[in-house]
Amino acid sequence: MFNCNSYIATGLTLAALLVATAASAEGDTANPLKGIIEADVDNAAAIKLRSGSGDPVAGREKSQLCQGCHGEYGISMEGLIPKLAGQYANYIEKEIRNYQAGIRSHQIMNAMAATIANDQDLADIAAYFARQNKMEGDGPGNPTGEEIFLHGDLSKMRLGCVNCHGVRGKGLESKISMFPVIGGQQKDYIRRQLTNFRDGYRTNSPNGIMNRITSSLTDSEIESLAEYISAQ
Ligand code: HEC
Ligand code: HEC
Repeated sequence: MFNCNSYIATGLTLAALLVATAASAEGDTANPLKGIIEADVDNAAAIKLRSGSGDPVAGREKSQLCQGCHGEYGISMEGLIPKLAGQYANYIEKEIRNYQAGIRSHQIMNAMAATIANDQDLADIAAYFARQNKMEGDGPGNPTGEEIFLHGDLSKMRLGCVNCHGVRGKGLESKISMFPVIGGQQKDYIRRQLTNFRDGYRTNSPNGIMNRITSSLTDSEIESLAEYISAQ
């Protein structure tokens, strides 16, 4: 039989490595995993950190087109359009670059990403959405989804989502920007992305980590997760 424990160990090592890389890039090499799983923080210091180097005032102007779908303050009104409010600027920039390069495919967003002319505009737009109050959910939650989110399922070689996406999916420490905020995100969007990762339609996560995490999820587990995550 495939060695389950070594797979889990590999997954955890990868998580540690991803986080260590992110942390040391910011000059913090001392025990990168210590204290990174933090609760929902939305104070001025955290907002500054997650907004990156762009100018949010210029970004507000430059993101008029984007606001038409993603909402004036990054809260979309449509289930398949993601909220961007309080998302890490670095993550927004990475996704836009992936859409521009065709590494992430979506007809509308490939076209929208192509309208962003240069790095400065991208940084400004990302900063504008990042500095909004973090997206919030108002759903009923889901105990099965919460269980998978917190503990994963070692028998299926799956890590708990909390290890990378933080408590209630609100992200890790603000300086660690590669793991997107997912708590409070649109339920339909979460379901679609998890399905896309599982079925191989989305392959742009670092080292294919999300493809591996989702490979053993059933439709009903995805539904429970989407309900739990979107409610946070
Ligand atoms: C016509 C509607 C529409 C417009 C306008 C639009 N988007 Fe999107 N956006 C979407 C949809 C739908 C998705 C989900 C695509 C997918 O499933 O990959 C998306 C996804 C994204 C994502 C990925 C979010 C994530 O959590 O991974 C980012 C970032 C983004 N859009 C930024 C922008 C920016 C910046 C602009 C303006 C230049 C913009 N969008 C304009 C509809 C739109
Ligand atoms: C080892 C770290 C890790 C674990 C564990 C993990 N994720 Fe992720 N996840 C990521 C990374 C990194 C990305 C960003 C992918 C990219 O760069 O496009 C991501 C992206 C996502 C996205 C897409 C977000 C968006 O805005 O498009 C969803 C949804 C998601 N993860 C849900 C989950 C769920 C549910 C679990 C648990 C079953 C989980 N993740 C476990 C690292 C992880």
